[in-house]
Amino acid sequence: MTTADESVLLLGETPTSDAEAAAEQAWWRATVVYQVYPRSFADSDGDGVGDIPGIISRLDYLQDLGVGVVWLSPVYRSPQDDNGYDISDYQDVDPMFGTLEDLDALIAGLHERGMRLVMDLVVNHTSDEHPWFVESASSRDAARRDWYIWRPPRPGMAGGEPGAEPNNWGSIFSGPAWQYDERTGEYYLHLFTRKQPDLNWENPEVRHAVYAMMRWWLDRGVDGFRMDVINFISKAEGLPDGEVPPGALYGNGFPHFGSGPRIHEFLQEMNREVFGDDPSRFLTVGEMPGATVEQARRYTDAERREVNMIFQFEHMEVDEGPGGKFDPRPIALSELKASLGRWQEGLASVGWNSLYWSNHDRPRAVSRFGDDGVHRVASAKALATVLHLMRGTPYVYQGEELGMTNTVFRDLDDFRDVESLNHYREAVGVRGQDPAQVLEALRYAGRDNSRTPVQWTDGPQAGFTTGEPWIPVTPNYREINAAAQVGDPDSVRSHYQRLIRLRREHAVVVDGSLRMLLPDDEQVFAYERTLGGVRMLVLANLSSASATVPAQALAGPADWAQAAVLNTNVANPAAITDAGVELAPWEATVRLVDGT
Ligand code: GLC
Repeated sequence: MTTADESVLLLGETPTSDAEAAAEQAWWRATVVYQVYPRSFADSDGDGVGDIPGIISRLDYLQDLGVGVVWLSPVYRSPQDDNGYDISDYQDVDPMFGTLEDLDALIAGLHERGMRLVMDLVVNHTSDEHPWFVESASSRDAARRDWYIWRPPRPGMAGGEPGAEPNNWGSIFSGPAWQYDERTGEYYLHLFTRKQPDLNWENPEVRHAVYAMMRWWLDRGVDGFRMDVINFISKAEGLPDGEVPPGALYGNGFPHFGSGPRIHEFLQEMNREVFGDDPSRFLTVGEMPGATVEQARRYTDAERREVNMIFQFEHMEVDEGPGGKFDPRPIALSELKASLGRWQEGLASVGWNSLYWSNHDRPRAVSRFGDDGVHRVASAKALATVLHLMRGTPYVYQGEELGMTNTVFRDLDDFRDVESLNHYREAVGVRGQDPAQVLEALRYAGRDNSRTPVQWTDGPQAGFTTGEPWIPVTPNYREINAAAQVGDPDSVRSHYQRLIRLRREHAVVVDGSLRMLLPDDEQVFAYERTLGGVRMLVLANLSSASATVPAQALAGPADWAQAAVLNTNVANPAAITDAGVELAPWEATVRLVDGT
């Protein structure tokens, strides 16, 4: 299969080593990925939940946008405790989403269009309804007992008694990370909900069962995996207690399961067993909360054969207070730039970055980093510009290309997400926090913000379903929808389309080096890309006030005043003169000088 993306690679500079040559071949460096969250994408049968035939009906829309890959959030059989991230059968499709034949048709439909499919791989845990866990829980002597992490109560304590948990770790979704099982008198570990028991990766049978399942998907034609919380799979021996942060109810287990002792060994084994001799043929992206740049260099160094890239979280944490995501604080642009700049620099010579503003776990980008009021269109475009022209593989979360916003939650009944509901119960019920304040934090950071249906039209239920959607449509769908944007050159979607095309047309976007400018400026996000004699300047005002850029900030080898404007989100880009530049609110302009 040949895709349009591959032609770009021919334009790259001559590789200087075998590893670089391999990396040059890697198609996933030159493409853009689109994340589909299937429950909310498109519903073909009117049951209010999106499905695979719904996705197939929109493939032309995705092809026209220009993305090269679809990352599909889980469609496997699942009790849906965490919207499919709790899997009870890795090798079947949940009837709610369709059938395996539908999935085959999706793969074929993508491949016919020169696009690819990346599956979500959720193997830190399964559902408690997975036959592996059902068997494991059936008795202490069960053949698969050791496939999960079972421990007796603390010595001298009775199982189920408060504080009898084997260690003090808290679950990421509130409460303790351990669930007592009356029948066998032991606890099992669940870093997420109690319906998501953690697999025991120390057991080689578990690992080989996972690898066999992955090979089965590759044989079916998928082109890679997005690996859910994959840096959590290796737990420290002895599962030591974590430190209890001030005011917290539980210990922080992260130092004992984040990038644990055998993580690199496990990833290398997986790579060998699943991807064989040519791992760069597939796209692999490890979701790795808490990973540092130094760790990312090891994970993504092509020579180490672990993963192509990771989802890091540092820039997602710039609005988190000491209490985490539900304890928000204002964003300082300088901090955001420093973080992204550090990752650009850290993975410049080794490894590779992923680039994203949002996904199904985060609020809508334009509401969080932009201005979803009067400047919604301009700010959505400006954010897209600065992200897409950095070095790395950009990910677009469904609806982001339309500038979709956060939704409106009247009260707790409007929330569906287990994380938000558990947090409310614990914060209000156990810690006695003010319910109004807790609700406000959920409105800001809750995951349901990005899980409302994709707004296709201004018709009933935004054209998502003919039935009652599983979560209400965001009220602004009459104004913000795909039908209104396709073909309109001024729409957010057309801007995304142009940015995606730039990546295909200009090797400097894929391979150029990157230098951040104006690091301390709290309004302007600016950087320069260079490849051979080609230089590109990205200059964006990420604020709702006008901004002045001093001339000396742009001084350098290129004559930006004369440069061609490659892309902009304003009718008349601010002129660059000896006095500097005066950028309009949310203005983002890209210039190119070709000195070759
Ligand atoms: C990842 C997923 C998230 C899920 C969690 C547990 O962070 O993106 O949606 O709840 O893992 O699987």
